[in-house]
Amino acid sequence: MSPQPLIFVTRALPPDVNTRLLRDYRAKLNPDDGTYSAEEILEGAEDCDAILCTPTEKLTADLIERLPESVRMIATFSVGHEHIDLPAAERQGIRVSNTPDVLNDATADIAMLCLLGAARRAHEGQTMLREGRWVGWATTQLTGVHVTGKRLGIFGMGRIGQAMARRAKGFEMTVYYCNRRRLPPEQEQGAIYCESAEEMLPLCDFLSLNAPASDETYHWLNAERLAALPDGAVVVNTARGTLVDDDALIAALNGGKLAAAGLDVFEGEPRIDPRYRDLENAFLLPHMGSATVETRNAMGFKCLDNLDAFFAGRALPDGLV
Ligand code: DGY
Repeated sequence: MSPQPLIFVTRALPPDVNTRLLRDYRAKLNPDDGTYSAEEILEGAEDCDAILCTPTEKLTADLIERLPESVRMIATFSVGHEHIDLPAAERQGIRVSNTPDVLNDATADIAMLCLLGAARRAHEGQTMLREGRWVGWATTQLTGVHVTGKRLGIFGMGRIGQAMARRAKGFEMTVYYCNRRRLPPEQEQGAIYCESAEEMLPLCDFLSLNAPASDETYHWLNAERLAALPDGAVVVNTARGTLVDDDALIAALNGGKLAAAGLDVFEGEPRIDPRYRDLENAFLLPHMGSATVETRNAMGFKCLDNLDAFFAGRALPDGLV
């Protein structure tokens, strides 16, 4: 009987996922959960048949070209795959899978939390209370931006954008969206399609970024697009930090153009632009979109489903290349 495939796992996994992994495979684990350098990844991948990685590892073309020949598949524990050079993987004949769908609800929940937290000044309220500065209820204390019935624009109406639109409907919001293409009516969730960002932005009391990271979306939210929003708008980003030009967003938050921002993702995270920490009108979370026990288990099981399919010679359920 041939030995079970050997999987190099770059980060610690949720316990239930680990248990299934170790039931069906041999594995090189990372119990300390530190982030590996490129050289450590190359060393760890030695003799392995596949890599189970996460968005914290950058699998560049150079690294992929230097991987040991034994590595035939990469399963990423994420829906986002901008950290993996897919054309390089394809050239090397390495299959790649991701984890779509199972994190739509958890991520849209965090987007709503960011929207509400920013609009309703949750950070300032928490800080006042925890620092013992709350002297009691007052009519004008921490008055924020009203959410119910307002207009929300969604940039990127994929599965998470659609889940966000469904949640916004519960808040009686009018939802607009801007996407590479118009969706069929059954996927629009009652949202109104805008041909361009220029058409949508002036309508957005709230703007939610839900598009993937790509060359096309790099610094998409720049000074010009921020200026096109109504004064006092609220920006939410749960997609990727690279969609936002931090200088422009911080200037808009400091200068009063925006009322607030709710951000779960940052360019260069975890080393975020330190100016965000001083902004009272920024509600900040550390990339928690998919962080529920159920969702992280489902993401891990999806990685294993894809590895199982690969090693059984079946089509990958979530194959990217
Ligand atoms: C993803 O899956 O891409 C998320 O950002 C990780 O939660």
